[in-house]
Amino acid sequence: MAGVEDQDHAAAILALCAELYDQDARKLQLKLVGYLQRHTSAQCGFLMLVAEDSNQLFCQVVGDKVLDHELRYPSHCNSFSIALHEKRPVTLQDLTTESRLEIVNMLGCDVQSMLCVPVIEPVEGRVVALACVVNKKGSNNFSTDDIKVIQTCFKYTAPVLTSTLAFQKERMLKNQTQTLLHVAKNLFTHLEDVTLLLKEIMQEARHLTQAERCSLFLLDKEQNELVAKVFDGDVAQDQTKLDEGERAEVRLPADQGIAGHVATSGELLNIRDAYSHPLFYSGVDEATGFRTRNILCIPIRDDKGVIGIAELCNKLNGAYFTKFDEEIATAFSVYCGLSIVHVTEKEYSTLSACDIPPRDRWGASFTRFPFLPRCMTRDETLMCMFDDVEDMGFLHALRIERNTLARFIIMVKKGYRDVPYHNWYHAFAVTHFCYLLYKNLPLNDYLTEMEIFALFVACMCHDLDHRGTNNSFQVQSQSILAALYSSEGSVMEQHHFAQAMCIINMQGSNIFGNLSSKEYQQVLDLMRDIILATDVSHHLLIMPELETMADEGYRGSSDKHHNLLVCLLMTACDLSDQTKSWTSTKKIAEQIYHEFFSQGDLEKAMGNKPVDMMDREKAFIPELQINFLEHIALPCYR
Ligand SMILES: *[C@@H]1O[C@H](CO)[C@@H](O)[C@H](O)[C@H]1NC(C)=O
Ligand SMILES: *[C@@H]1O[C@H](CO)[C@@H](O)[C@H](O)[C@H]1NC(C)=O
Ligand SMILES: *[C@@H]1O[C@H](CO)[C@@H](O)[C@H](O)[C@H]1NC(C)=O
Ligand SMILES: [Zn+2]
Repeated sequence: MAGVEDQDHAAAILALCAELYDQDARKLQLKLVGYLQRHTSAQCGFLMLVAEDSNQLFCQVVGDKVLDHELRYPSHCNSFSIALHEKRPVTLQDLTTESRLEIVNMLGCDVQSMLCVPVIEPVEGRVVALACVVNKKGSNNFSTDDIKVIQTCFKYTAPVLTSTLAFQKERMLKNQTQTLLHVAKNLFTHLEDVTLLLKEIMQEARHLTQAERCSLFLLDKEQNELVAKVFDGDVAQDQTKLDEGERAEVRLPADQGIAGHVATSGELLNIRDAYSHPLFYSGVDEATGFRTRNILCIPIRDDKGVIGIAELCNKLNGAYFTKFDEEIATAFSVYCGLSIVHVTEKEYSTLSACDIPPRDRWGASFTRFPFLPRCMTRDETLMCMFDDVEDMGFLHALRIERNTLARFIIMVKKGYRDVPYHNWYHAFAVTHFCYLLYKNLPLNDYLTEMEIFALFVACMCHDLDHRGTNNSFQVQSQSILAALYSSEGSVMEQHHFAQAMCIINMQGSNIFGNLSSKEYQQVLDLMRDIILATDVSHHLLIMPELETMADEGYRGSSDKHHNLLVCLLMTACDLSDQTKSWTSTKKIAEQIYHEFFSQGDLEKAMGNKPVDMMDREKAFIPELQINFLEHIALPCYR
């Protein structure tokens, strides 16, 4: 008799396993729950899934229904904790009255009996879910046979469940990352007003992290206060537009409370339970009737330090903000920081007011190939950049206002970090080489005016916000940038372009502002192609095509040839340090290896082995440089 029953069971489980081919975790759960209900004679069943990272339990399917909003519970201190932590089956009798009520509320029906069995993943012995059935039909209680039915079922199905859940999580992360990237791109191309830009950024951050409220405060250093700029997803009202006595502007002390702590320490705070946090001030809740549960508060910086904070409040689809929410918010804070950087009026008016002709200012050698742009002072570099644009005739031809160009150049300079090699001086030297090409070669015979200007601006922007580490390092170290961009390769180059767009979209910095919309689109597309082409791997990829073009001759009628030529010229500018005098070239090589070795040190600290080129104990610079000259630089200039 028992043998026949076992055989029936085995057949039923085999049939179930054959059904479990879904990649969709919810559909898979429907089948599992259906099986449990049938074989334990339960009125209803559900799975409580265990989230690995955040100590939460969540439920997506109850009975034969997929829930619109998954339910989430902390894994401690609730009805299911015993089964989870002691890894043993639990029945209604094991629970307190309070816990029983919680389950009644969750299911929305009366609960007479219940059985909850942990599902253990065999390799690591981790509990991946709790399988629960309620209200046994025709009996007061579930039996030990029911426990066995459930355990046997998951003995065979736990691996499929685990891998499907992992797949679901992976897909969700990817989806969120893509949304983030999409948002970033939209922000950069469509907004011109900084306050509106901040508002959009905060709203998207709120949306992606599923926060109930968001706000953004900027630091007023003189008053030592934090001033609200974006509040509750809306732009905070401008105080100057309000009557006296109607002071709607929200100000907080800059060194007190949660916001003050973040502004002072510069460190993110992720507070799971606001009311139990020593820094939380409940006075505002009391006054407004709003109930704060949890808070994610992040600093916003520019190159000199913290300039404000952003606060997200009350996670809507979970108990509190997760690690992933922290990363999303941090990524957005970088955009906020960039949007806020102020340029003082004085800075750009000195730059735009000069009227000495470039030739007289810099001397005759300025337009010859051996000129060393790196010998100029910082202030001279700004002025020189400005003069180049004027001398090339673009101010006039593209109707660029002097102030706009001045502001753009200053913002670009601010966009570079103080790393050993990929800093403002690199950008300046590369851009000056582009000017040399223009002055010494008949570029106009081969390229359109728009292409030449796009190349020049791309040179200025091509390494914006470089961090001194390369693309594979971003991916390896799972940096935020990699999460943002790696779906499309060339992580850093995509970031340089995104930063350039950010500057162009700032108020008063849009040097393309007087172009027709068709030209505008065209120049941005060109800049994108050119900046992405600065990835050395892109250069190596198009090398065969460049060689063919060089052999067969350049065709001005071919779009393809135009594109190849601007990319080649970009690379020539980018590597132009190699064309200068020996003393200069040698000094620059030292800066490059200084940067490489810093990355190597970071990799060692992460427990990885850097390539020889980045390992200060292994690299032999003369050999590496000769290799580089022979295989990359020379073929390019040839
Ligand atoms: C991915 O994102 C889109 C839009 O935000 C959403 O409609 C879709 O359901 C998401 N897919 C998954 C698997 O989360
Ligand atoms: C970038 O760094 C990685 C080490 O993280 C190294 O393997 C790779 O060769 C480097 N790529 C380039 C183009 O220098
Ligand atoms: C566009 O040109 C007009 C006049 O030529 C000028 O006043 C305006 O500032 C220019 N706009 C930009 C964004 O440079
Ligand atoms: Zn570069």
